[in-house]
Amino acid sequence: MISRNRIKALTAAVLLLATTFGSRPLLAQATLLQNAPGRKVLSLNGSWNYIIDPYENGFYDYRREAFDQSKTGKGGYYDNQKPSSRQETELIEYDFDKSAALQVPGDWNSQDPKLLYYEGTIWYKKSFTLTPKAGKRYFLYFGAINYESHIYLNGKKLGKHQGGFTPIQYDITSQLSPSGDNFVVVKADNTRRPDAVPTINTDWWNYGGITRDVFIAETPTTFITDYKVQLAKNEPGTLTGYVQLSGEGKAGQSVTLSIAEAGLRHTLKTDAEGRATFRLPARKLKVWSPQSPKLYAVSVSSGADVVQDRIGFRTIETRGQDILLNGKSVYLRGISMHDENPLIPGRARGEGDLRMLLTWAKELGCNYVRLAHYPHNETMLKLADEMGLLVWTEVPVYWTIAWENPATYQNAEAQLSDLISVGKNRASVAVWSVGNETPPGEARLRFMTSLVRKARALDDTRLLAAALELHRDGFKVTVDDPLGAELDLTSFNEYMGWYVGGKPSEITQYTFNIKYNKPVIISEFGGDALAGYHADADTRWSEEYQEALYQNQLKMLSTIRGLRGMTPWILADFRATRRQHPVYQNGFNRKGLISSTGVKKKAFYVLQTYYRQMAQQYDGK
Ligand code: GCU
Repeated sequence: MISRNRIKALTAAVLLLATTFGSRPLLAQATLLQNAPGRKVLSLNGSWNYIIDPYENGFYDYRREAFDQSKTGKGGYYDNQKPSSRQETELIEYDFDKSAALQVPGDWNSQDPKLLYYEGTIWYKKSFTLTPKAGKRYFLYFGAINYESHIYLNGKKLGKHQGGFTPIQYDITSQLSPSGDNFVVVKADNTRRPDAVPTINTDWWNYGGITRDVFIAETPTTFITDYKVQLAKNEPGTLTGYVQLSGEGKAGQSVTLSIAEAGLRHTLKTDAEGRATFRLPARKLKVWSPQSPKLYAVSVSSGADVVQDRIGFRTIETRGQDILLNGKSVYLRGISMHDENPLIPGRARGEGDLRMLLTWAKELGCNYVRLAHYPHNETMLKLADEMGLLVWTEVPVYWTIAWENPATYQNAEAQLSDLISVGKNRASVAVWSVGNETPPGEARLRFMTSLVRKARALDDTRLLAAALELHRDGFKVTVDDPLGAELDLTSFNEYMGWYVGGKPSEITQYTFNIKYNKPVIISEFGGDALAGYHADADTRWSEEYQEALYQNQLKMLSTIRGLRGMTPWILADFRATRRQHPVYQNGFNRKGLISSTGVKKKAFYVLQTYYRQMAQQYDGK
């Protein structure tokens, strides 16, 4: 007898196949170009016309049949139809070019008051001139579209993608118009769904739209599609990795890896699959660290293709309850952050926003940041490399995911693979996290253990983590989440003094019983404070309450054997629809150490003082 769950799972798998391939084969998403922004690109950032489409009229006919699955494939907004020159005026009930515009990159919620809470479909359209050259290939690349996207070029479907925070890429070489006049149309839909990743319930704003850069990358016909250049796991004197070519001439090609400053230049030969792997002595490399974030100019070339990157080299490992960076014990003085600049509402748009967030973290005394709860902008990782901050980066396997649904797992695994693909050459990336505060259970353990194993198969040089669950019995806190056995770190969120455990002055009575002999990283603690609201330390929402909470949290946590770091929640107040108290919240989660207007609260200085002491203790500075 097949169980109900089994039938559900099989149905989902069949559905997944149907929706992915449908009746019209979609161009598969090409392997993500490594360091895509570093290639020769034509930017499509700027004004895109848009049409709001809550009933998806631009996608389905009135019988709810998808236009792009019909015999002609036509009829949707993606045709970008215009009246023909004939006398009679055809019935066309849309016109992109006469519609309003949204700025790309940028979520739609923060660009128009009527879109602040909008959840549904918005169509975007951008015309561009690009005359394809012989011997070249062209890739249309979106840094991220939240959440589901259908993408069309010159009226033809390129593909469909799910996942709001990882790059989307299509080889458009054969789809470009010979005339040079092209237009791209995107159906972006941020509807929350129970089987999505994340699912319908989160504590952040569901910013929809094309939230990161869009460009077209040009490469030679045979080109460098991917590469990894890092120190071998726990071997500081060995440089290892691979270069992957694509295109008809990929096999048996020479590839040159050069790090001129280190006097390293090595020529490799690709195999029949276009791949060349290497293990090279690299004694002369100066290691990267937060105190000395040394980056090298690395050049990878083959035939007509040359890719330049700036890469740092370091090792990170655990030994018992210690974390060793380049063989030396390190304490992770961290802070959590969302991909949001509180001063300019909405998703962080570009380098200025990101550099500001990381500068605040440096001011706090951090050597480490937790980029919660989803893959952040690739630029954030490059800035962390440059500014000397280690990074915990994460997929949005958050809270109550549909653990039994195969399509949900495939989606989570695809997002994890893309996260690792984008971050694998970044010295700052020290931790891959497979999720946050997920409720223990058999299906959840299977799902997340599979993600851990996938991550290790893709990259064995980083630490694996997740924000685990704990349970309390009186003042005894126990951490024995079975997922912890699969991970390199014991990380968990605890909210003593805010959600549980009484007032700040009462929390130092808690003791922690942790099952694993691994380094302990507190992935979250904190409490809300409305900046400028002052009262005594027992008055919730005041800065003094948050200040006392941090003081007592640090006292309580310092009793934990094996404590090797923390990322308190959170650097700055952030928008969250769950937070509707009309006086203290107004749609913001106020656990920030910095307010939504950039004011540092009293608790900021408590943590800053503690981090100065820890830096003195570990780094002697
Ligand atoms: C949770 C969760 C965060 C959330 C925070 C809070 O631990 O991980 O995403 O914002 O608590 O409740 O403020």
